[in-house]
Amino acid sequence: MTEVKATTPDGNLSPVVSTTDTGAPAPSDQFSQTVGPDGPILLHDFHQVNQMAHFNRERVPERNVHAKGGGAFGHFETTHDVSAYTRAALFQPGVRTDMLARFSTVAGEQGSADTVRDPRGFALKFYTSEGNYDLVGNNTPVFFVRDTMKFPHFIRSQKRLPDSGLQDWDMRWDFWTLQPESAHQVTYLMGDRGIPKTWRHMNGYGSHTYLWVNGAGEKHWVKYHFHSHQGAENLTNDEAALTAATDPDAHRRDLFTAIKRGEFPSWTLRVQLMPYEDARTYRINPFDLTKIWPHSDYPLIEVGTMTLDRNPENFFAQIEQAAFEPSAVVPGIGFSPDKMLLGRVFAYSDTHRYRIGPNYLQLPVNKPQVPVNSYEFDGPMRYDFTPGQPVYSPNSVGGPAVHHDLFADTGWEADGGFVRSAYTLRPEDDDFSQANALVNQVMDQPERDRLVETVASTLGTVRPDIRERVFGYWRQVDKTLGDAIAELVAGPGVEPHGPAPAGADPDTPVNKS
Ligand code: HEM
Repeated sequence: MTEVKATTPDGNLSPVVSTTDTGAPAPSDQFSQTVGPDGPILLHDFHQVNQMAHFNRERVPERNVHAKGGGAFGHFETTHDVSAYTRAALFQPGVRTDMLARFSTVAGEQGSADTVRDPRGFALKFYTSEGNYDLVGNNTPVFFVRDTMKFPHFIRSQKRLPDSGLQDWDMRWDFWTLQPESAHQVTYLMGDRGIPKTWRHMNGYGSHTYLWVNGAGEKHWVKYHFHSHQGAENLTNDEAALTAATDPDAHRRDLFTAIKRGEFPSWTLRVQLMPYEDARTYRINPFDLTKIWPHSDYPLIEVGTMTLDRNPENFFAQIEQAAFEPSAVVPGIGFSPDKMLLGRVFAYSDTHRYRIGPNYLQLPVNKPQVPVNSYEFDGPMRYDFTPGQPVYSPNSVGGPAVHHDLFADTGWEADGGFVRSAYTLRPEDDDFSQANALVNQVMDQPERDRLVETVASTLGTVRPDIRERVFGYWRQVDKTLGDAIAELVAGPGVEPHGPAPAGADPDTPVNKS
């Protein structure tokens, strides 16, 4: 049999020459070299050996969280004047900045379904004229825990049991009910917004409080909100389960095909701004990631528009190897005393060095679109260098020098001995009031009913004492809601919804045990 060769669509031999990895014309794309047609393969058939060896190394480890996702390129345009609040070049009026967005689920692995109930990642990378600015947020404005120390514990409770490798509602509810600060985010999650219709139909949030500094050095605390122009729409449990079964990649497909059709999704960025000094006396801790700032206190101010209009050409190179890091800030933007944010400032570049390699910032998708003149050198696969740059500083040969005038101070005052403690409580800090407001002021009765049913549907095989704690947790969010969940579980029971993460018999009604 002769080799079948690549052709053009009209059946002619493709003019693109197939080569070995080192660029010489390839001997074959189909047949390994053997001793006679039926004999053994020759070890010195390096073209075949290289193919097997490279194939064995084709994957990088998946992201420890947010493994399943997709993304696209686009631009951000600043349409309103917020220069009184930040000197960041990308947020000056009229400035247009290239960007990348990646959306994801949190707990599932690479092959998991897009329509599971989970927060969605909303990771943005702006290639600004002052270096990369990464805003790595979610589709919810709050989070489950408020101290970095709790994050790995929280994530493990959402992932898989050590023995069976199954996801498990006992772990989830055990953790959440023992950490009642989770109530606000869990209420979001169990409500309609827990399963967005598509990534295009969800809002995004920076979630944390950040710091903005203007040209005069004046500081404001800031929270980011991206509002979808496609509208915020969600799936019911049944719709999500059906989609998970028939098209697990539905959200990845939706974004890609919408952009391919020329339907470019877009979002308006609005911010809430809190004068720097207000943070000292505000009635809730403005840095607590489990809380929002009521809009009545700090109204939304429009900044600009984000539009995604270009699909990746290579998913692995441009999305899988994309590396977002909250540590990537630009002059005019800083961090805040949020203990989650400060942990994240360390975690991401660390995981990228492990997942992709220490020179991950050289890859085109991660590379800043400005000259990089850092004193970092060498390491695996290093190819980027500045000829003649000295390797030490200070030096007297014209190497890169720090220019303090390019910065505005983004620090804040801190005082006190070393402690391990929760935040100091403010007058209106508690774990349940904002969750209650979400239930009673944002949700309507049909959504509350769906929330009751969704929670009840997860409790099928949950250990009885944990289940009692779940009822108590929801009664603290809202007495009527908690009672309704308990009654539904005690009464007729609810069929479990969707791909059962409970590790349970999917035919078991929740009130069986
Ligand atoms: C991804 C750590 C909290 C949003 C990741 C990754 C790690 C991580 C290790 C994988 C990154 C990669 O391999 O590329 C942490 C830690 C946290 C934390 C230690 C708390 C201390 C949060 C919070 C949010 C968030 C509060 C949202 C407000 C994301 C997103 C991604 C991600 C969107 C995916 C980024 C992408 O698309 O590549 N996180 N995370 N994380 N995290 Fe977090």
